[in-house]
Amino acid sequence: MKVTLSVIKADIGGWVGHSDSHPEVLENAEQMMSEAKKQGTLIDYYVTKCGDDAQLIMTHTHGEGSELVHKLAWDTFVDCTEVAKKLKLHGAGQDLLGDAFSCNVKGMGPGVAEMEIEEREAESIIIYMADKTSSGAWNFPLYKIFADPFNTVGLVIAGNMHTGFSFEVHDVKEHKKVTFNCPEEIYDLLVFIGAPSRFAVKSITHRDSGDIAAVSSTQKLSLMAGRYVGKDDPVCIVRAQGNFPAVGEVLEPFSHPIFVEGWMRGSHMGPLMPVSLADSTPTRFDGPPRVIAMGFQLANGRLIGPRDMFEDISFDNARAEANMMADIMRQHGPFEPHRLPLDEMEYTTMPQVMDKLKNRFEDMEE
Ligand code: F6R
Ligand code: MG
Ligand code: MG
Repeated sequence: MKVTLSVIKADIGGWVGHSDSHPEVLENAEQMMSEAKKQGTLIDYYVTKCGDDAQLIMTHTHGEGSELVHKLAWDTFVDCTEVAKKLKLHGAGQDLLGDAFSCNVKGMGPGVAEMEIEEREAESIIIYMADKTSSGAWNFPLYKIFADPFNTVGLVIAGNMHTGFSFEVHDVKEHKKVTFNCPEEIYDLLVFIGAPSRFAVKSITHRDSGDIAAVSSTQKLSLMAGRYVGKDDPVCIVRAQGNFPAVGEVLEPFSHPIFVEGWMRGSHMGPLMPVSLADSTPTRFDGPPRVIAMGFQLANGRLIGPRDMFEDISFDNARAEANMMADIMRQHGPFEPHRLPLDEMEYTTMPQVMDKLKNRFEDMEE
């Protein structure tokens, strides 16, 4: 059976500040999704959050980029914004950039990751959702999962993965895409995806079967809006088991946190901390950045789950390490490498300060 899994997310208001989502907003989304399921638009759905981002996880048979499903998500966010406004939540509707919906939500603010799949005998799925970071944050873990044998031993000892995976990479600034075949092109791949503010892994495909293995949201809010409106807070869907890495191999990259862009005012480097749903509430200096992992089995499109994969105690050390990394970064205050380089900073007073001081700058002799 062919089924499409769509994850569409937006920050439509924070409770308190940018730290969490309000239950009444999520309850409203739940009601709209439930109605859409009753009417047959959706097979199933699950409404959740990561920090201040509302997450709509939907299964259906309308394919990727379906106007029907995207309009449902857009209308849900618009309606929930009204609830957020009544509660005077912070930044109500902040990710909804357009006024009128047309065709799909791409370019309108919400983040989208979708895949149409032929559901396997057992379809294990992990959905990653992050807060206080940007698209491109999945480059490192996706590389580890699908190209690094020190992370995924299946690449070495499982015959059904030995040929490797191909990576579709998007240049988010120039709007170009390129595909790399791994393992033979990993050095070329890393030249690009090691610069995640510009190049983001969009999707990964099993080379022998051509089956989709992973897909991420690569939308850049600041590029869409032409100004700072909040970080992208991306999502990513990964299929696991069988021809794909095992669930444990899919989760393993998060056992040691890496630094990602985001955190306070979208303008800092900070560790990406793997947390349970309950702990996806970035508070210290509006962070540090968080990632949650919700696991589902699909059963004819029904979402059997979620299991909160990072709730497990085996990620406690990763959280402790992330807190230590956060301490070290915070000691830098407004200095790099905690603060992002000027051209990456989304929240900057530089143009105003430069303008104020322009007459005081003199040419130097040398
Ligand atoms: C980062 C983020 C927060 C805000 C900060 C200022 O993605 O959402 O760190 O940038 O709290 O928020 P405003 O400008 O809404 O007062
Ligand atoms: Mg927010
Ligand atoms: Mg957010």
